Amino acid sequence: MIAIYPGSFDPITLGHLDIIKRGSQLFDRVIVAVLKNPNKTPLFTMEERLTQISKAAQHLPNVEVDTFTGLTVTYAHLRQAKVLIRGLRAVSDFEMELQMAHTNKTLANDIETVFLSTSNEYSFLSSSVVREIARFGGEIGHLVTAEVAIALRQRFQNI
Ligand code: PNS
Repeated sequence: MIAIYPGSFDPITLGHLDIIKRGSQLFDRVIVAVLKNPNKTPLFTMEERLTQISKAAQHLPNVEVDTFTGLTVTYAHLRQAKVLIRGLRAVSDFEMELQMAHTNKTLANDIETVFLSTSNEYSFLSSSVVREIARFGGEIGHLVTAEVAIALRQRFQNI
């Protein structure tokens, strides 16, 4: 069974990686799908994000990284995926995630959303939190991979 793990991943965090690892143990194949979102200006380019994710997940042979535009369920159909994986950190995520899952279900009844609860140690972690800490020179080594930490420090070193 193929699962899609969609998101912005700007940048990938250890929380994302935790979900990818656990998803890769549940499904035959996990496709980490990075949304090309014309409404958002990301910190990292699509190419940078794809490389960061590929390197972070290189030890997981059944994980693939790709990019998509438009609806996630359309992309899922294209890749013959039956599952969308989303991580749930706290109750505050739940409302938005449930709305998204219901919306996707009305668009594609053959695709299920599977929620994985984020490991406790990452329950506070998000890409935006990481970006903010890095912007103000805080320690991020425990939140992202070494490669992403270097990229973030470089991005903000002149600010
Ligand atoms: O990492 P994010 O930003 O929380 O991911 C959100 C994402 C990319 C999963 C969501 O915005 C999405 O699926 N966008 C594609 C458009 C779509 O399918 N919309 C219908 C579901 S609400």
